[in-house]
Amino acid sequence: MPIFENSFVVKRQKKLAEFFEKSGSVVLVASGEPVAKPGGLDQTYPFLPHPEYYWLTGSRRSGGVMAFAPKEGWTHFVRKADAVERLWEGEPEVPEGESVLRLNEWIRAHSSFPNVVLGNPNHSPVSGVKSDPTQKKAIQENMDRVRRHKDEAEIALMRQAVRATASAFRKAREVIHPGVTERDVQIEMEAEMLRAGATGKSFGTIVAAGTHASVIHFEPGARVIAKNDLVLLDSGAEVHEYAADVSRTVPAEERFTPEQQAIYDLVLAAQLAGISKCQPGTEWHEVHRTAASTIARGLVDLGILKGSIDELLDSEAIALFFPHGVGHMLGLRVRDVGGRHPDRPDGRMCCGARVRVDLPLETGFVMTVEPGVYFVPAILENPELRQKHKNRVSWDDLHRWREVGGVRIEDDVLISTDVPDVLTSEIPK
Ligand code: GLY
Ligand code: MN
Repeated sequence: MPIFENSFVVKRQKKLAEFFEKSGSVVLVASGEPVAKPGGLDQTYPFLPHPEYYWLTGSRRSGGVMAFAPKEGWTHFVRKADAVERLWEGEPEVPEGESVLRLNEWIRAHSSFPNVVLGNPNHSPVSGVKSDPTQKKAIQENMDRVRRHKDEAEIALMRQAVRATASAFRKAREVIHPGVTERDVQIEMEAEMLRAGATGKSFGTIVAAGTHASVIHFEPGARVIAKNDLVLLDSGAEVHEYAADVSRTVPAEERFTPEQQAIYDLVLAAQLAGISKCQPGTEWHEVHRTAASTIARGLVDLGILKGSIDELLDSEAIALFFPHGVGHMLGLRVRDVGGRHPDRPDGRMCCGARVRVDLPLETGFVMTVEPGVYFVPAILENPELRQKHKNRVSWDDLHRWREVGGVRIEDDVLISTDVPDVLTSEIPK
């Protein structure tokens, strides 16, 4: 069964073709090929098609190349099934198209045009083809610009992923009690998401109890959840590689301790403030700054930070406690396109954090909004940072907060002309 109705795939191809025609280039978009495991003899890592190829063709098969030539449009070169594949893997779903064995002949016949390779240039039948650097930049920017907007078929898959994720979080709430391990919670969440229609998980499930929550991408282990722990859950289902990504922080029992509650309340306020900024035209850095300033105000009120809010953001003192970007683009996989406006330098920081997106928001983008506050020993014990921010932090009073570990709250937000559409709003927080 094809994953997308053909009309969606045709529309995507048409959108790109308009720009590619004007560029006067041949564009080759490669799916990629399985990568051998080192020392694994004939074993390979699970194959993931390059997202550009998958999005453009609707096919997740390896070895294919979608080729564009001016005045001719698209030709799909596909890897046909052979006897070995049929023996070991059964009859595969092969999209309609020319055999990829004819691709070199096609490339030679179009050699008067500059070439641009997109998708997976390394492990693919086009690994020997060189891209024209000037054309490549413009064509890549155009591909990214079009792909950032999720169409209805993509949103439908993401909504399925959200439903499976919501089931997993319901299950987690049933399972979490003092005495169970992080790993117990992980197993139950992942099993539940598969039962609820997921085809997989969109990243390694994070279950972090107590001070483990200060590790942003903590891998759950044998730690037993204790009575006064909070538990940070960050997990997402995927459906045909379309992802959900949700974080919740919950108490091990009914209630948070007063310190946990105080940090939870300010992270929630920052998250709601960030979501309210998710409107077309708002710079993503502005969403980050809004969340950061809400956190700074809360930490000043608790006596953890000292000084004016703007100074705490501009001096990057806020990043001692909120060290990551406020979110990222989501869709085809947990980190979708992202990027920056072509006129901006790479890697602009915001309030001391590396923010993955440097663009104004547009309708059809899906963003995670996931501020957090953490008490990270490696940051709080760093002598240079302590010196740099010696008058901005109540260093001697921090011990009572360290046990909190960390709090993160994350939702997936579809940017729309109206109010932000929080796809994950049914998951309680
Ligand atoms: N929720 C995992 C991540 O955003 O990295
Ligand atoms: Mn995330």
